[in-house]
Amino acid sequence: MSTDQLILALESSCDETAGAILRNGREVLAEFVASQVDLHRLYGGVVPEVACRAHMECLLPGVDKLFRDTGIKPAELSAVAVTHRPGLIGALLVGVTAAKALALAWDKPLIGVDHIEGHIAAAALAVPELTPPYIALVVSGGHTNLYLVREGSPGREEMECLASTLDDAAGEAFDKAAKLLGLGFPGGPRMEKAALGGNPVAQPWLNSCLPPDGQNFSFSGLKTAVLYLARGRAGRKGELKLDASGVRDAAASFQHSVVHALVSRTMDQARRTGVKWLALGGGVAANQCLRETLAREAAEAGLQTAIPPLRLCTDNAVMVAARASRLYQAGVRDSLSLETFAR
Ligand code: KG4
Ligand code: ZN
Repeated sequence: MSTDQLILALESSCDETAGAILRNGREVLAEFVASQVDLHRLYGGVVPEVACRAHMECLLPGVDKLFRDTGIKPAELSAVAVTHRPGLIGALLVGVTAAKALALAWDKPLIGVDHIEGHIAAAALAVPELTPPYIALVVSGGHTNLYLVREGSPGREEMECLASTLDDAAGEAFDKAAKLLGLGFPGGPRMEKAALGGNPVAQPWLNSCLPPDGQNFSFSGLKTAVLYLARGRAGRKGELKLDASGVRDAAASFQHSVVHALVSRTMDQARRTGVKWLALGGGVAANQCLRETLAREAAEAGLQTAIPPLRLCTDNAVMVAARASRLYQAGVRDSLSLETFAR
């Protein structure tokens, strides 16, 4: 019997159905990510009911394929892990119910994983040298948080939330601005592409995501600025008032402002806490401008960065397995009454 630690992890918190098998917390033996982008594009955003149905259709066939691809038998698993918070409640329930059924049928321990801790675990998986204490910036469609991560008891780091958004999440702002600029769904990558040819200082938006509290983030004012520029005072009902070059400038100015806020707040907290490492995670961490700006400013300040590759930034199950691996090592086990939480 092998002494390897083998974790099967499931992720269904939003619009990606994902599964992975990870060996000894490091080695990805197999994974799948079934994107629902084409389904949700019809509605211009994620529709929870549509997401749930797609999770139900894709999850177990995906798990079967993981076993087929690796030749691993369920009996060899150490544990079954699943994202149980935060996310769309119905979507989370699909994954959690499946994980409970599999853990029960195979007589394996169940481990519930916090999605945000998963995004941070992706950075640690990509850069194993990452050591607490460090500042972690988690930026996704649902969250924009800065954490101070400290070593706690073995495998259980302490996370203190230092800053968050006062309104929309950064990814949500990208998605909404893209819609207003007629770029469609999913917004983040399309905004990034449009911004490539644009002038980042065409609009005077640079400091608009930095509320006067000197600590948190705010993206709703910038969103309104994009709305008025793109659609005029008629708001959402207005026709697009920009030509292609105007859209590019708006996308570039928007991205410049969001990235400036994220990086400057992160650097402020790094200076304040005196950490040596910065970690980045979440779907918005796939943004090249954010990655490069953070890496550059960190290097200038003598800090090291843990920035995961793109496929580990957007939602995936490898990060869930990586977090579960640490929890498993620390002796954490959940019961079959594991609950789901939207927040
Ligand atoms: O982490 P994630 O996959 O799902 C959540 O946990 O929310 O993040 C998805 C978010 C979306 O809002 C998407 O527009 C954004 O990440 N995103 C990006 C990029 N790729 C994805 N935002 C900016 N630039 C990108 N390249
Ligand atoms: Zn996520």
